[in-house]
Amino acid sequence: MSQEQDKIFFRNFTLTLAFIAAMMIAFYVIADMVTNEGENAKTNVNTISVAELTKPVGQVAVAGKESENTIVQNEIVADASAVGKSISGESVYNGLCVNCHGIAALAAMIPQVGDVAVWGPRIKKGTDVLYANAINGYTGELGMMPAKGGNPALSDEEVKAAVDYIISQVQ
Ligand code: HEC
Repeated sequence: MSQEQDKIFFRNFTLTLAFIAAMMIAFYVIADMVTNEGENAKTNVNTISVAELTKPVGQVAVAGKESENTIVQNEIVADASAVGKSISGESVYNGLCVNCHGIAALAAMIPQVGDVAVWGPRIKKGTDVLYANAINGYTGELGMMPAKGGNPALSDEEVKAAVDYIISQVQ
């Protein structure tokens, strides 16, 4: 390559670089303008829809914290109690207790139904102790079991039936 060719190449190369740099700045400025505009106009819409869109389908009930899900379930179970129907242990369990005792991910905090290793020693305490703890609530080494699973509208019999159901799932 001659020196002349080198110069031309160098000039073109520099121009190309300058052009790319200018484009980057232009893109940055345009993008900034567009997003700012969007932010000002849609702040409210965005925050609402994001909250709506990311709303969990089901919610986990954690001891001490009442989730929407638990409230709905409580109402269902409470309705059945209100009309004087005695509901089966299984339906009490599925309407309420399952929110805690049927969520494998919570196994470290809540004894999960069907877990023999966890329920074995509890069952050995005697059914009456389990009934009483489920009805009155109690705090053990794992966490807090709310009285009647958090639904005072349940009768003692319904809670006992749910405990029986839990026990039946272990044996
Ligand atoms: C908010 C979550 C939650 C709900 C709802 C819940 N439990 Fe529990 N339950 C617990 C936790 C936590 C424990 C374990 C406490 C411990 O031993 O540390 C527990 C323990 C128990 C035990 C064992 C008691 C013992 O003496 O070892 C029984 C039986 C029981 N629950 C029955 C029920 C029944 C029946 C329902 C539904 C009517 C129910 N639970 C609903 C959280 C819950």
